Amino acid sequence: MASVPFELKGKSVYVAGHRGMVGSALLRRLAREDVKLVTVDRREVDLCNQAQVFDWFARVRPQVVFLAAAKVGGIVANNTLRAEFIYDNIAIAANVIQAAHANGAEKLMFLGSSCIYPKLAAQPLREDAVLTGPLEPTNEPYAIAKIAGIKMAEAYRSQYGSDFISVMPTNLYGPGDNYHPELSHVVAALIRRFHEAKESGARSVVVWGTGTPRREFLYVDDMADACVHLMKTYSGSDLINIGTGEDIAIAEFARVVAEIVGYRGEISYDTSRPDGTPRKLLDVSRLDKLGWRATTSLREGLERAYEAYRATLLVPTQA
Ligand SMILES: NC(=O)c1ccc[n+]([C@@H]2O[C@H](COP(=O)([O-])OP(=O)(O)OC[C@H]3O[C@@H](n4cnc5c(N)ncnc54)[C@H](OP(=O)(O)O)[C@@H]3O)[C@@H](O)[C@H]2O)c1
Repeated sequence: MASVPFELKGKSVYVAGHRGMVGSALLRRLAREDVKLVTVDRREVDLCNQAQVFDWFARVRPQVVFLAAAKVGGIVANNTLRAEFIYDNIAIAANVIQAAHANGAEKLMFLGSSCIYPKLAAQPLREDAVLTGPLEPTNEPYAIAKIAGIKMAEAYRSQYGSDFISVMPTNLYGPGDNYHPELSHVVAALIRRFHEAKESGARSVVVWGTGTPRREFLYVDDMADACVHLMKTYSGSDLINIGTGEDIAIAEFARVVAEIVGYRGEISYDTSRPDGTPRKLLDVSRLDKLGWRATTSLREGLERAYEAYRATLLVPTQA
């Protein structure tokens, strides 16, 4: 995988989804680059609205685009809001990619997700496993929309020569995560449940499933660093996985989260709940060859994530 240098210096860089967990980490990371950062509030430009997106791009003409806006959620959100997940994510990808092309963007990065890979693909998941088998049914609408985005980036590269690239992050966590009781991902859900159990003095916390599935987790500031690294060094139609290359059993992971939060009660498992796939780990050899590796340990990342969660509790909620 050859490195193709791209100069970010002095460019106008648009982060779509800048208020989200990944988008805000990208803003933190890009603040260290000599670039002109561009963002726009969702109340001004709804990325599902083609006319608003096209008008805004024609006026602002960003040179570089990180497409980190999406409708995102855990298994419950994905499985219940199926129409919203497919519609919003296809619309966002289609509008932003076409607008970037039509207005001469020099480079665009599309953020996919590890759930684009087939449910039964060999582990660790290699990038060329995409479209080789059926998807996990619970998040199929989201995955199909993400695959559409990847294929758009690829098609614009082949037809127009656009320097559009796609990256596939593993499970992310960190400041700015969604702590909604039903709609969150596993890390945010566990941080919240252990914290609330500690505060209320609860004796037991129930974790869904058997605790045996293995998952990979990447701290979001590492993810942002990887995105900037790839923006500066990678050009090609091949997908690039972004992860740590290491996984951990959910039971062990839950113990680490409980320890960091300071919850000392029992952790039990509700085995009537589905486990999902037994293992989900990305093959990160392409990323490794491109010269990037995660540097934040799981413990360090979780400590920072818990600190950020506690800070959210101090902010009064808006009516
Ligand atoms: N979180 C993960 O574990 C994970 C894993 C793999 C891949 N990813 C990918 O990383 C990207 C970012 O995820 P995230 O975790 O940062 O999600 P997030 O925290 O939910 O942020 C998503 C952002 O997209 C914006 N957005 C959504 N719909 C929009 C619309 N119609 N118009 C304008 N803005 C809109 C949201 O705006 P508001 O703030 O205004 O709502 C928010 O800022 C996504 O592409 C996701 O697929 C995430």
